[in-house]
Amino acid sequence: MTRVLVLNGPNLGRLGSREPDVYGSASYADLVEAGARWGAVLGLEVEVRQTDDEAELVSWLHEAVDARSDVVLNPAAFTHYSYALRDAAAQVTSAGLTLVEVHLSNPYAREAFRHTSVIGAVATGTIAGFGFSSYELALRVVASRVAVSRESD
Ligand code: DQA
Repeated sequence: MTRVLVLNGPNLGRLGSREPDVYGSASYADLVEAGARWGAVLGLEVEVRQTDDEAELVSWLHEAVDARSDVVLNPAAFTHYSYALRDAAAQVTSAGLTLVEVHLSNPYAREAFRHTSVIGAVATGTIAGFGFSSYELALRVVASRVAVSRESD
């Protein structure tokens, strides 16, 4: 089965208690559980991870390249300023893998500093503003791209 890494950056482990008016009341554990459920439906082996550590997130992207795993990435605040994460994300897409940038909220409807994503230009695409559904939609995109690439093999 195709393995997909769903990687989450800083403060996303606090989902449920963190600004529920912005991020909803579902917890990070709920996201992990939903990821497994969506994966089962889509025929993907979904592994959801979270870290507050930029270096760890970079190393997970290196791991994705080496293992040839597609990635769904919520870079959280790193979205807006981490060139290290951008360079790691660029390695994923330049290796021919899919990397979907996701956000629970719609950063463009929020503070000005959130209007810039340093990841967007090196991602395959971005889905933002749909809560947990942003992740579900991203996994659907990954599953359909996997199916298309299998057909052309
Ligand atoms: C976020 C949006 C970012 O601006 C913010 O720093 C986050 C979460 C989102 O999922 O909406 O931590 O990536």
